[in-house]
Amino acid sequence: MSILTKEDIYEVIPKKIIHDIFEDFDLELEDGIHGVHHWARVIENGLEIASHNNANKKIIIAFGFFHDCQRENDGDDPEHGFRGGEFMEKYRGKINLTDEEFDKVKIACAGHTNVLHHNDIDISTCWDADRLDLFRVGIYPEAEYLNNEISKQDYFIEERSELAEYEETFAWSEDLIEDVYSSKITNFLSNIIKKDNVIKRKI
Ligand SMILES: [Fe+2]
Ligand SMILES: [Fe+2]
Repeated sequence: MSILTKEDIYEVIPKKIIHDIFEDFDLELEDGIHGVHHWARVIENGLEIASHNNANKKIIIAFGFFHDCQRENDGDDPEHGFRGGEFMEKYRGKINLTDEEFDKVKIACAGHTNVLHHNDIDISTCWDADRLDLFRVGIYPEAEYLNNEISKQDYFIEERSELAEYEETFAWSEDLIEDVYSSKITNFLSNIIKKDNVIKRKI
């Protein structure tokens, strides 16, 4: 049972930036294996690990939203993590992270595809969180590929893999998607109304 709300996410990544991430995403945002519901499960996995090892929750949230956001396909795309970190660089100073936290998220994004282990607890928690969602594509995570003691526990892998298998969604992520889309529609409509007013005035 998640206790997150969309406001917890906006406290780290402002809504406008979430909107940009969604707009820039080339794959299936809601139904894809690398879309927003995967990002939400990565965040949930990470926060669950953090409740045991005290990893930085803001870093986990930012990693969740940026690590796969620049994927160009759902298959072989080894550079996507690096590109996710570069995309994030545009928002330095606008995301609620210190420079040190920001740099850790970039390292976590860049390395998540091809590096297994890291000594930094925040970075290794992000990587475990992502790997613990692998069963959504039929791969059961092996403890030797995970970093943190809690992540390697059989019961923990089983519990997180069950969420992955059933592609669990959360109230906060559904709420956030609706909120970001409804603001998109509001902007779209207000632009039409503005244009319409200009036309009427000209007439
Ligand atoms: Fe990835
Ligand atoms: Fe991922």
